[in-house]
Amino acid sequence: MSGRIPRQFIDELLVRVDIVDLIDSHVPLKKTGTNFIARCPFHTEKTPSFSVNRNKQFFHCFGCGASGNAIGFLMDFSHLNFVEAVESLAAFAGIDIPRESFEYKTAPKKEDLNSLYVVMEQVAAFYAEQLGSDAKAVDYLRARGLKSEVIQDFMLGYAPDKWSALTGRFSQNLLVEAGLMVNKGEGNAYDRFRGRIIFPIRDKRARIVGFGGRVLDNSLPKYLNSPETSLFHKGKEVYGLYELLEKNPKPERIVVVEGYMDVIALAQFGIHYAVATLGTTVSQAHLDLLFRFSSELVFCFDGDKAGREAAWRAMEPAFSRLRDGRKIGIMLLPQNYDPDSLVREEGIDKFGERIQTAKTLSDYFFQHVSETLNLSRMEERVQLAIKATPYLEKMPEGIFREEMRARLKEMSGLTRLDVSKNKATLKTLQDKKLRQEKSRLSSARVAIALLLQNPGLSEIVEQKEIDWRGLEFSGIDLFKNILQVILDNRPPNVAVLVEIYRGTDEEKSVKALAFLELMVPDDKVDAVFCDALDRLLAQAKSTSLDRLLAKDKTSGLDQQEKELLRKLLANK
Ligand code: UTP
Ligand code: MN
Repeated sequence: MSGRIPRQFIDELLVRVDIVDLIDSHVPLKKTGTNFIARCPFHTEKTPSFSVNRNKQFFHCFGCGASGNAIGFLMDFSHLNFVEAVESLAAFAGIDIPRESFEYKTAPKKEDLNSLYVVMEQVAAFYAEQLGSDAKAVDYLRARGLKSEVIQDFMLGYAPDKWSALTGRFSQNLLVEAGLMVNKGEGNAYDRFRGRIIFPIRDKRARIVGFGGRVLDNSLPKYLNSPETSLFHKGKEVYGLYELLEKNPKPERIVVVEGYMDVIALAQFGIHYAVATLGTTVSQAHLDLLFRFSSELVFCFDGDKAGREAAWRAMEPAFSRLRDGRKIGIMLLPQNYDPDSLVREEGIDKFGERIQTAKTLSDYFFQHVSETLNLSRMEERVQLAIKATPYLEKMPEGIFREEMRARLKEMSGLTRLDVSKNKATLKTLQDKKLRQEKSRLSSARVAIALLLQNPGLSEIVEQKEIDWRGLEFSGIDLFKNILQVILDNRPPNVAVLVEIYRGTDEEKSVKALAFLELMVPDDKVDAVFCDALDRLLAQAKSTSLDRLLAKDKTSGLDQQEKELLRKLLANK
């Protein structure tokens, strides 16, 4: 087969394949903590120093320094060239490689993202128009009790039951890139959404980033969602946020439900402050997004076993986000109801009351951890402390955390809570190592390495709206380069990001930083990054300030430099 392999396909391949499975099929791996280890296949050793990280989708040998993503592994392990390695990886994943002619654009750049947004908008309008002309679809929505006002507010539509309803109306390349058509290879593609009610998913800036589609009957899958594209990242978006902000940009609280139909039914009944995760569990990214608009979140889960489990799973990301002043409520619905069916049955007042009287996170948490324990026994009180402390430790320091600790002391009757003393010694050692490591590494290295290893942090940088003019620090070019590549390509993880750098001047530095062990616990990544970035920016400012002041005294400043100096002095 000839033609080059589209960049996008390579990125997608790296997301689809799990490097742990791949390497395990060549070198049996053993799980330890968050990593998988084995004796290194690239050098001879007695004890394993070869480690594979599932989150990063990266391998690294602490012994010989070999490292890379899934493609790199196959190149090194099976002695393949790049194209052969991609072919072998695609075969491992059971996917055909689409080929493109040379004029095909590589990774989507900013202007291409714009044309993707435009096509999403046009397709949504097309689907909305189709809804009006399809009796089955209209009947379905009517049977679900939806009024035309919410149908319009949420821009619902219908994808005709055809394999090529979109072909001819829009550019096929764009449709494939936008996830609206599925590529079969050889230039053939078909519509992803067929015979489904369409729910456009808009980001907070009103841009359509993806679609959900529901069948009209009981066939499976019930819902189909857009795949991850350069516009759409499931773990970061919530459904209904734009519609919520339209009604009220500063809601007192936001209710987080599970389904599309729940958001819409609640809105129809006047509760305009509900959003839904997109079939995924609540993530820290979701919480950060929502806490930007309201300081109170109420999670609403179905009352069945799956719902109760989901509620408990939400505790993980929640605790690390519980700054003072923030509030999380937990609401479990009666068995066999979801918000849609319940609000229709009992009405808005009763449902509103449930929201008002949702359990506080603290009540829910302590009830859950003590449920199976008999607290009149000392042993079980110790167990309570062991179960609860790891969560409390995730909380940011503050009054809330102190209060939670006080409550745990009271419940457990234990005077000391440092139950993790044994574990704690270990932790102190780790902390000490972390501190040593941190002081050895410059803020710039920490910031660059964290950004590389967690491309999602680019959002934090974007939010800071940094004025880069005149900032000076070593590594600034690399930092800005990586940031731009992330913003242009939105790689979901470090493996995809490193792949983009293959063959470039920066490849070596990027790879070295990608596996730099920073010893930052997952829940501290955002904070450590913010901290490093702030320190870095402060240092960079004072460096340029010193230089400009010195130059002012000696050779004098030109107009541009004077202006820069004024700016730096102004926001000092
Ligand atoms: P539910 O099955 O609870 O959805 O799944 P729902 O909104 O109550 O659906 P209706 O009332 O039967 O229409 C909750 C959410 O999980 C995701 C969707 O985001 C859905 O809204 N999901 C569910 C999928 O992504 N795929 C599926 O096949 C099912
Ligand atoms: Mn439902």
